[in-house]
Amino acid sequence: MPEQRADGPDRADRLDRPHHADGPGRPERDWARLHAGHVEDWGGRFAEACGARGVEGCVIFSGAVQYRFRDDIEVPYVAEPYFKAWVPETYPGSALKVVPGDRPRLVCLRTQDFWHLPVSEPEGFWTGQFEIRCAATPAEALRELGDVSGFAAIGESAQPSMGFRSVNDPALLAHLDFYRAVKTPYEVACIEEANRVAAAGHTAAQCVLRGGASEFELNQAYCDATGQRESALPYTNIVALNEHAGILHYQHLDRRTPARIHSFLMDAGADCNGYASDVSRTCAGGSGPFQELIGSMDAMQRRLCDETRDGTSFVSLHESAHRLVAQVLAEHGIVRCSREEAYGRGITRTFLPHGLGHLLGLQVHDPGGHLHEPGGPSGAPPAEHPFLRLTRTLRPGFVVTVEPGIYFIPELLDELRNGSLSRTVDWDLVERLLPCGGIRVEDNVLVTEEGSRNLTRAAFSTDGYAPPDESASPDGP
Ligand code: GLY
Ligand code: MN
Ligand code: MN
Repeated sequence: MPEQRADGPDRADRLDRPHHADGPGRPERDWARLHAGHVEDWGGRFAEACGARGVEGCVIFSGAVQYRFRDDIEVPYVAEPYFKAWVPETYPGSALKVVPGDRPRLVCLRTQDFWHLPVSEPEGFWTGQFEIRCAATPAEALRELGDVSGFAAIGESAQPSMGFRSVNDPALLAHLDFYRAVKTPYEVACIEEANRVAAAGHTAAQCVLRGGASEFELNQAYCDATGQRESALPYTNIVALNEHAGILHYQHLDRRTPARIHSFLMDAGADCNGYASDVSRTCAGGSGPFQELIGSMDAMQRRLCDETRDGTSFVSLHESAHRLVAQVLAEHGIVRCSREEAYGRGITRTFLPHGLGHLLGLQVHDPGGHLHEPGGPSGAPPAEHPFLRLTRTLRPGFVVTVEPGIYFIPELLDELRNGSLSRTVDWDLVERLLPCGGIRVEDNVLVTEEGSRNLTRAAFSTDGYAPPDESASPDGP
């Protein structure tokens, strides 16, 4: 075993890679080269956006530390997306000055006080792309930015009183949001890494489940395996046992282990350099109709991933998902009508009330999903699918989630039961499935010139993930 220095193994080496990029099965990547290309691509996007809006450049703020109301306890800091697009490290209160054709200037706030450890001096694979200045106070940081009168400011802490030409100009942001749907190779690498980390977490949680675990313990197992504290997660994990799986954004962590586990739905991602993964898996507590339903959902999700290609309208893909849900409902006898009727009369919307997926990147729900051109117009979702976050035609470089589901949500089922289509449903079977809550299978898919690449399934296979045990005891609903 090589001798380890006090600051850990190969610290200098680690700085050449993003967080989480180590470990078995990780491809060797030249992160400095990837990031340099990324900065060039984003520089081009900013130059075009600045030209379109008639500004000299942009000042992008990283975001300020926030505090609890009437308290000095900090709210966990999260860097703002337009800053994270350039800088993979966390620098609260800092700013970036981007002038087309120039090396971007990073003004890094390094306040010194004896309550806190100041942020480290910038170092790592990414620093070569910036002119870096450090400031000890916010006022000094503003001075280091120089003249900003012809500049557009981006960020929650940007103030008109700072003398900018514009502050959070919606047209400028729309321009950037439109183009950020197409990921640079560096961004794809980050999302791939974030998927590897999430896959390890999901696998660990499923192992703990086999021994009997509460939602709280499952979440702990996930965070342990991913090496992430909760505040670093790209979104709050959804860790749902039994009927909680039917609550789309279930937000609690029950500490009690249920007497019987019918189902486990986990929707949990990871962060790599500010880029997110967003992954859901569902498994059954035993064999039976629910486990069979998961098998069908998994097969139909793979089919939708295969259809995620250049030139496909995401609205059509969402409609395909409803046609496939209709087929699954009919094949499993949940509906007694034909699949054509289940689709045509909108019965599937009771079982799949959310959209098929969304853009993914710096934010879990990257904006720009309704923008059909850099300056608009906006393509609102169809009236019958109001929650669809993505209505664009897919292009190479897009990273999207594909996350069909089937849920047993009492309030939606009651509407169906009390309406004219009640006869179309096998309510006895639905009653048996209600304790299972629901199923969601969610992968992150990169659209390529040739078709698509499923970043999540690749991550699970590198992780040695074994799907839930087929020979589980026959005690499932
Ligand atoms: N994790 C939130 C979502 O799947 O959109
Ligand atoms: Mn999602
Ligand atoms: Mn999700």
